[in-house]
Amino acid sequence: MGQSVLSTGFTRIEGVLHCEGVSLELIASEVGTPVYVYSAETIRDRYRRLDRMLSSVPHRIHYTLKANSSRGVLAVLKELGAGVDVVSGGELRRALVAGFAPSDIIFGGVGKTEAELAEALDAGILLINAESEAEIRLIDALAGQREIRAPVSIRVNPEITLDAPHDYIKTGGKGHKFGVPIDDVIHVAEVAASLDHVDLIGLDMHLGSQLSRIDPYREGTERLASIFAELNKRGVASLRYLDIGGGLGVRYDTEEPPDLQRFAAAILPTVAETGLQLIMEPGRFIVGNAGALVGKVLYRKRSGGKDYVIVDTGMTELLRPSHYGAFHRISALRPRGDARRVDVVGPVCESGDFLALDRELDDVQHGDYIVVADTGAYGYVMASNYNSRLRPAEVMVDGDRFAVITAREAISDLTRLEVASPEWHLATAAATNGGGR
Ligand code: LLP
Repeated sequence: MGQSVLSTGFTRIEGVLHCEGVSLELIASEVGTPVYVYSAETIRDRYRRLDRMLSSVPHRIHYTLKANSSRGVLAVLKELGAGVDVVSGGELRRALVAGFAPSDIIFGGVGKTEAELAEALDAGILLINAESEAEIRLIDALAGQREIRAPVSIRVNPEITLDAPHDYIKTGGKGHKFGVPIDDVIHVAEVAASLDHVDLIGLDMHLGSQLSRIDPYREGTERLASIFAELNKRGVASLRYLDIGGGLGVRYDTEEPPDLQRFAAAILPTVAETGLQLIMEPGRFIVGNAGALVGKVLYRKRSGGKDYVIVDTGMTELLRPSHYGAFHRISALRPRGDARRVDVVGPVCESGDFLALDRELDDVQHGDYIVVADTGAYGYVMASNYNSRLRPAEVMVDGDRFAVITAREAISDLTRLEVASPEWHLATAAATNGGGR
């Protein structure tokens, strides 16, 4: 009963779930619910494990902000010497505010705007992962205006079939919107190399997320290495980086995440042969198992022969179950001893607002706390204000201390951007001011 350790960093002490040395009950009562709680030591442990795994080749680990971009999380990673991977002007700003040096930032994404590219160039980041010839030409023009040369990597779509658990998190297959199709890469690289304001310094791929097989990484890395060899043959000799993206899976239920030793053995020899510096962009691997979402039971109810547990958190705080059918373990913070088969649902006015369906759960009553495990990645960052709900607080635990790293949203935040007395513009006046056709 209840002895299962939810994940590294989360254990039961006398039946009560703790994050490291801090009782989740203490956090829930002091900070309120819903609340995300993160284990700093788990984040450190994951980062160090990956770093050790890659240690036989020169490498850089660029943590992917999109998994969890809270400043308190970034602070832990910065202390470890991590770099970061950003996908928007907003994430770039977060990385800079958190104190990352521009030379530790890489910028990816399929739809970067001109303004975002300009910001990245002005900041002087390590490299931009470009995803099309048109983007590379735009970068060249922007760098030209600034009389600089832009450091660019090409994101290759390696066109590899994948085992990700949901179609939405596969990205490196034939016909996906991401990257330059593999057959066009040599041409696009030669164009890039010929431009006056672009330094072509790397090749990049990202296969997908929550991957458990090693083969796709091996195949993808080999494809990048052979593109590198072909470019060398053609006299394009400026490359320095080989970026194999993120995507390493973690355990949510019974999955077998890739074994790191085998992963290293499959990939590193190919990387070493190229002589390039390896880049990885892990997100979930670093923070996925490091977080838990704590909620409170509002009601129990029976309907249509089913038992419902209605809690104060749902799809607005954790979208993954509803959006991807994702599985997250749920347990009582302080189990009462019995278990029941239930649906755990949130307060949002949608039938798709659930955290678990038809799940054997510790018996819980009104006022009890539940803990949703392994929610450190793609949890808070995907939270929304739907139903005008307030985004939850985030707490970092480090040993026997805890701190709120993101305050719970306030009601005033919800209406902050709304205009109480809108200023109406006449369409005809706008047209005469140059807005017409
Ligand atoms: N690099 C690129 C270019 C990416 O698109 C991603 C994630 C990563 C790195 C990091 O992947 P990771 O190591 O975290 O698997 N919201 C979904 C996951 C979307 C992943 C998007 N790209 C989920 O909740 O499962």
